[in-house]
Amino acid sequence: MRKQILVTGGVGFIGSHTILSLHNAGYEPIIVDNLSNTHTSILDGLSSILGHSPKLHVVDCCDEEAMNAIFKLYNISGVIHFAAFKSVAESVAEPEKYKRNNLDSLQVILKLMDQHQVHHLVFSSSATVYGQPDVNPVLEETPWKEAASPYGWTKQEGERMIQAFAQSHSTFKSALLRYFNPIGAHPSGKIGEYPIGIPNNLIPLVNQAAKGQRELKIFGEDYNTPDGTCIRDYIHVMDLADAHVKALTWLEETPLQVEAFNLGQGKGDSVLEIIRLYEKVNQIKIPFEIAPRRSGDVEQIWADVSKAKKLLNWSTRFSSEEALLHSFQFEKMIDQ
Ligand code: UFG
Repeated sequence: MRKQILVTGGVGFIGSHTILSLHNAGYEPIIVDNLSNTHTSILDGLSSILGHSPKLHVVDCCDEEAMNAIFKLYNISGVIHFAAFKSVAESVAEPEKYKRNNLDSLQVILKLMDQHQVHHLVFSSSATVYGQPDVNPVLEETPWKEAASPYGWTKQEGERMIQAFAQSHSTFKSALLRYFNPIGAHPSGKIGEYPIGIPNNLIPLVNQAAKGQRELKIFGEDYNTPDGTCIRDYIHVMDLADAHVKALTWLEETPLQVEAFNLGQGKGDSVLEIIRLYEKVNQIKIPFEIAPRRSGDVEQIWADVSKAKKLLNWSTRFSSEEALLHSFQFEKMIDQ
């Protein structure tokens, strides 16, 4: 009998890839998603790869009553909580919306985990909790700077809520996964990053520029970096998905209660380097112009991933080249 894992936001970018990793590792994922920022074609892609439709409840995680009914329906042994709003710019314009959605949903999850005696939580956190670190690569114990956006604040606050909950619930355990910059797509091209409306992140915008749908703007070329553009740690979404399964199995065995893990490749690439690499692997020219800096951007950040390697026995399998290839492959499938 497969262990049932509740996956909130399981139709989203990282969520959908994690559904596949869970299935391949012998778990049964139960998806809860309100479909607010993903296209339902991702469900078709998921079903096609799995060979069956995954169990899905179209429910908002802030809806305690509906969530309670789902907890009652299954024998849930762990939760992976992805569901959250994630646009930095939108969070600046509508901070209350971010606080409400991202923190209320976590509150509901923690309360129901307690009520239904579910002890293991994998939480979607972000490198944004660090702000601009003084030293790179950044380690998990690096003290946090003030959050650069309300979105970033919700991730810091989410981690604090989980730490506080753990203190008063001794059987509760959690892995806080701090994602760096997820890119790529499933190698089949059937699922990938498919946000509603204008994307916020670099690679979906590069994909659209590749198709001639928009001109790309590079936000700032006067940073204190070798080529003047910002540096990030880009990680293939398939590797990120695998880390969730490793975290879940680690929670089943570890005596530790709450641990944070950086998930990246452990190397930094500049915006220009990534665009040049994209052009090379996809054999396509990306038109771009240099624009002013985007407010709230950190100059450079990349991860020290030795803790995830050691404790979770996890390492990346995909290169940036493969991630950029898979990303454009999925983008081309969208139009078909
Ligand atoms: N960029 C551009 N042009 C664009 C979009 C992005 O030049 O049109 C640049 C940004 O300035 C930045 C880099 O590309 O230097 C990456 O930007 P993304 O928006 O793709 O990603 P961020 O690093 O800003 O944000 C990501 C996640 C956030 C998370 C953050 C933590 O999307 O959820 O990493 O570092 F909070």
